[in-house]
Amino acid sequence: SPVLPLVEFIREEMNLKGTKIGCREGDCGACQVLIGELVDGRVIYKNVPSCLTPLGKVSGKHVVTIEGLNMDKLNALQQIVVDDGLPQCGFCIPGFVISLTAFCLGDNPFDFPNAMEYTSGNICRCTGYDSLRNAERELVKRLADIIPGEHLQWLCENNFLPSYFLTVAENLEKIRQNDNFHFSGKKILAGGSDLMLNPQQFEEVEFLHTDKSLSGITMADELLIIKAGTTVEEIKNNEIIAKYLKELPSLLQFFASKSVRNLATIGGNIANASPIADLTIALLALDSVLVLTGNNTRRRLKLKDFYLDYKKTDLHHGEIIEQIEIKIIKSSRLVNFTKIAKREHMDIASVNSAASFVYKDDKIVHATISAGGIAPVPLLLKKSSTFLQGKAVTSDIVRQAALIATNEISPIADMRGSVEYKSLLLRQLIYSHFIELFPSKITLGDL
Ligand code: FES
Ligand code: FES
Repeated sequence: SPVLPLVEFIREEMNLKGTKIGCREGDCGACQVLIGELVDGRVIYKNVPSCLTPLGKVSGKHVVTIEGLNMDKLNALQQIVVDDGLPQCGFCIPGFVISLTAFCLGDNPFDFPNAMEYTSGNICRCTGYDSLRNAERELVKRLADIIPGEHLQWLCENNFLPSYFLTVAENLEKIRQNDNFHFSGKKILAGGSDLMLNPQQFEEVEFLHTDKSLSGITMADELLIIKAGTTVEEIKNNEIIAKYLKELPSLLQFFASKSVRNLATIGGNIANASPIADLTIALLALDSVLVLTGNNTRRRLKLKDFYLDYKKTDLHHGEIIEQIEIKIIKSSRLVNFTKIAKREHMDIASVNSAASFVYKDDKIVHATISAGGIAPVPLLLKKSSTFLQGKAVTSDIVRQAALIATNEISPIADMRGSVEYKSLLLRQLIYSHFIELFPSKITLGDL
């Protein structure tokens, strides 16, 4: 089945037991593998949780499990990991080695913060993090000699990778013609980082992943266009985003681990219609427009009008989200994203919020504030946004806007908090937008 979790295929059908199962939710990293994809004649490797990766998604790609890194004796990275005492239970170690191998293969500076970032999706429950940090420091030292552009060659020559890696591009080229899974069905699966938590839900699935025309980021006439299949990690690292929407990458840092961001797509985040989706909340505040195609039509719809009810959208049968468009307002737009969750990193928010203000001549000319976790759908706070239009920023105005906001929401009590608690969180998040963006206009004691 194309929706069989990759980890099941690896362990049960290929009988490769080095890849472990911990949480089955993309949280622990025990199941991580590398997925290599041929891009312009080069294989680009990413670490992903195989528990959330549908088998159909790796068609035509190179899947590397921990066994695929073995050589006659420990490879150079495995040796560093052993020397620094990282292996304790052994259960999480394959995932750590896979993530650090992705770091070695990545197009990133070989520094310590980056090494940490690559292992952000790996948990060691017996707290071997000091050993991990030591191993990462040692690895960074060893990679200092790497020759840019000759990466793969260097890693093979220096025993970090088995030499068969040098032949993978050629092999993938040969099987390229098979890389075209296409199913006509009810559910469309992009990254699968949420839907694969429950793969039994699929009767039929239509995959988007092989269609390269559905990913990428471009800028045309001050319109930023993000294709729906673009992954969250691609958005986080994109130069156009860094230039025109520099607030977004820092939000995505808290979105999920790097390995989950490698799977999750922007289109999936929107279509999944979670009322608490971080990226969707940000896109709402940015007045994003969706381009929907299918059934021989192509239509534009404001994201704020896309959500009809809990998990119900205006996506017609046979339609897909093709792209997301954001108008770039260069000089006068101030943007802020914020969320509160039980953990700072990689957690579902209790309440999140984003705000965008066009601010000229000491006045808010246009305001859009959105919030999640306080209604059945990701919500644009229309009344409070309208209230702010034309106003100068003062503590009193901010207090009034927050009061209006807490009266236009309909939170429910759940494991993430009571109705009162969520209303209080929203009020605080609205305050925090103004404290962040207009620090000189706000007196904290007056809020
Ligand atoms: Fe925990 Fe896959 S089993 S991330
Ligand atoms: Fe496996 Fe820590 S070494 S959980």
